[in-house]
Amino acid sequence: MEYRNIFNASSVNYTLAAKYLRQGKLVSFPTETVYGLGADACNGQAVAAIFATKERPQFNPLIVHVPDLETADNYVNFDETSRRLAEKFWPGPFTLVLPRKENCRLSPLVSAGLETVAIRVPRHPVAQVLLAVFEGPIAAPSANKSGRISPTTAEHVAREFTSEEVPLILDGGPCEEGLESTIVQVSGQEVLLLRPGTITPREIELVSGLAVRHVENADNPVAPGQLRSHYAPNARLRLNAAHAEPGEALLAFGRAVPDDGVVMRNLSPDGSLTEAAANLFSLLRELDDTGVATIAVMPIPRQGLGLAINDRLQRAAAPRPESDEK
Ligand code: TXA
Ligand code: MG
Repeated sequence: MEYRNIFNASSVNYTLAAKYLRQGKLVSFPTETVYGLGADACNGQAVAAIFATKERPQFNPLIVHVPDLETADNYVNFDETSRRLAEKFWPGPFTLVLPRKENCRLSPLVSAGLETVAIRVPRHPVAQVLLAVFEGPIAAPSANKSGRISPTTAEHVAREFTSEEVPLILDGGPCEEGLESTIVQVSGQEVLLLRPGTITPREIELVSGLAVRHVENADNPVAPGQLRSHYAPNARLRLNAAHAEPGEALLAFGRAVPDDGVVMRNLSPDGSLTEAAANLFSLLRELDDTGVATIAVMPIPRQGLGLAINDRLQRAAAPRPESDEK
């Protein structure tokens, strides 16, 4: 079967792919691990479209792809050990979780509100050329619908998404590794293995000189306790609020916003769930930074991206036993 959205890796098609990325569209490209579903990592609405298109009911943080270590330096701060690991394993199937730089241009949605970013330099020549032509960082999870198997050929991707969802899939043949990258985070005197991959703990120990500890389930956090590291506002959240009470701030959605005379931010005056997803973490933070005790949040429709937005809001609103322990 012929697929309209599979394109061979020719120079005109790289140019077209980069143009689509600049327009906020999604482009699929091969890496040495699996095919990625890519978006301009600095464009919040494009990143939100990744979650919508994957039909992912939660926001988990995404991996940002850059052409080299020097480019990574623009977005994240390297400790000595992480830099040594990057020098050894990049380009390749290896991802480092590192603190975002102050004024980092990456959308907060790629970090799902965390202070860190997962970043990697892919080795696949097609990914490398695309990054060079696009001249920007590309956020990309595996190019499959949520809960389905990761794609290792262009045809797998084409079977998964229509050409409206993903107008262009760069064909780079079958992926060499077929398994997602190894993800690590250096933490004090140890290296946390957040996701095992083809770069082994032994190799990481040899290069870093530190012990590697496998942290279970980081890829798919299910228990609320495993989400401790996620950004939680200091303020309490009151969900499905029709309006704000005195002393509360208001996180609004849509056109019909009550005039309560309080500090207010609107996730999307047009009622766009994509725009709301793109704004969620930055606006929550802005309201939280005002020092208000409670943020009233207007109802968000529970469909499409609204599922992920509501999931995140519910987690942020949930009682936090760990903060009571302090
Ligand atoms: O091989 C790969 O890495 C593929 C190809 C396309 O490059 N990409 C991939 O990306 O698997 P993604 O976005 O599906 O990986 C996301 C995972 C999250 O589920 C989480 O485990 C971890 O990366 N992650 C991302 N950012 C993180 C962060 N700031 N802190 C901790 N873990 C993070
Ligand atoms: Mg995946």
